[in-house]
Amino acid sequence: MRILLCGGAGYIGAHAYVVLVERGHDVVVADNFSNSSPGVLVRLQQITGHPVPFQPLDLRDREAVVGFFARQQFDAVVHFAALKAVGESCERPLDYFHNNISGTLNLLHGMQAAGVKRLVFSSSATVYGDPASVPVREDARLQVTNPYGRTKLVMEQLIGDLCESDPGFHAANLRYFNPVGAHASGLIGEDPTGIPNNLMPYICQVAVGRREHLSVFGGDWPTPDGTGVRDYIHVTDLARAHADALDFLVRERRNLTVNLGTGQGISVLQLVNAFAGAAERAIPYQIVARRAGDVAEVYADPSLANDVLGWRAELDVDAMCRDAWRWQSQNPQGYPSA
Ligand code: NAD
Ligand code: UFG
Repeated sequence: MRILLCGGAGYIGAHAYVVLVERGHDVVVADNFSNSSPGVLVRLQQITGHPVPFQPLDLRDREAVVGFFARQQFDAVVHFAALKAVGESCERPLDYFHNNISGTLNLLHGMQAAGVKRLVFSSSATVYGDPASVPVREDARLQVTNPYGRTKLVMEQLIGDLCESDPGFHAANLRYFNPVGAHASGLIGEDPTGIPNNLMPYICQVAVGRREHLSVFGGDWPTPDGTGVRDYIHVTDLARAHADALDFLVRERRNLTVNLGTGQGISVLQLVNAFAGAAERAIPYQIVARRAGDVAEVYADPSLANDVLGWRAELDVDAMCRDAWRWQSQNPQGYPSA
């Protein structure tokens, strides 16, 4: 298939690019580099052995998006492009609504005008908010706790309405749990700008000496060791699910909403210890107050993905830490500027 990856220069998109090219697809990356750098394209060329077809594109620019689809032919789109920082979304909700929701609307307009009828969408476990019970199944109650989460839920709904209106249009909403790790080559990985919001990149930067210690947000959660529990999933496993979801859309011609996680809950201190083992160095940490908006425990029931996609996570927490550390230690400051 000829596939467009919107936001394909980002962390998850870059890993999906590699898997899709390995599966023989013809893949084009579109991005505005608002949270990524052209350096990733150089690395993708190193991994795949071929130049990366790239289109500068800002999804907020409807004319540009529709014009691009009018000039190019695609069999499917994978839509990663979004702003994703929860705290920032509380400070600048309108920017998040504009970028994520208007950007998605523009993309859907471009696809519809060009007759492109397959979409794989990056959704998130954030749509479950603070779940009533774990593991979380896809039919759990949906609730949002911040503007970022609202954009993900609204985008799922917009896509759902379009699918309803056009029986030939099919979409897969992939609800990612906590993606971590990096490609086994160490050439691509997570490269956050500024102070990392998320646990794994923060641990990586402590390990490489860019930050003094990790602050563990709360030691008094109702969990076995008192720290927050999440479902960390290796980004390579996650990337593979995008190729499987595209195959599903072609084969089954129906819509899908599915969790992507390992099904295993890991605490902050378990991840810190696993990383310390993988990197063979201590990760200094201090337990501090809980972070506003956090929840005790979230992990997936991933059985639907196994049933309908034949997909399951294969890489364990040690592989996640080993690969994250390889990326960080080989690239202490992230991607070099291209
Ligand atoms: P990322 O920021 O690394 O990648 C997103 C990419 O989209 C970036 O390259 C960015 O420049 C681009 N982009 C953003 N707005 C754009 C626009 N208007 N036009 C064109 N390009 C634009 O993030 P990621 O971690 O790779 O996440 C990918 C997707 O997965 C996002 O939609 C995110 O909400 C979702 N998600 C991520 C996580 C996570 O923890 N990383 C968890 C659940 C869901
Ligand atoms: N944590 C720390 N210290 C840090 C960072 C995080 O102790 O410096 C803890 C958190 O309190 C939480 C756990 O590590 O218990 C994981 O936190 P992350 O910020 O890495 O991930 P979250 O589960 O809070 O949120 C992430 C994304 C959201 C997304 C959600 C579900 O940031 O956008 O996963 O996919 F919605």
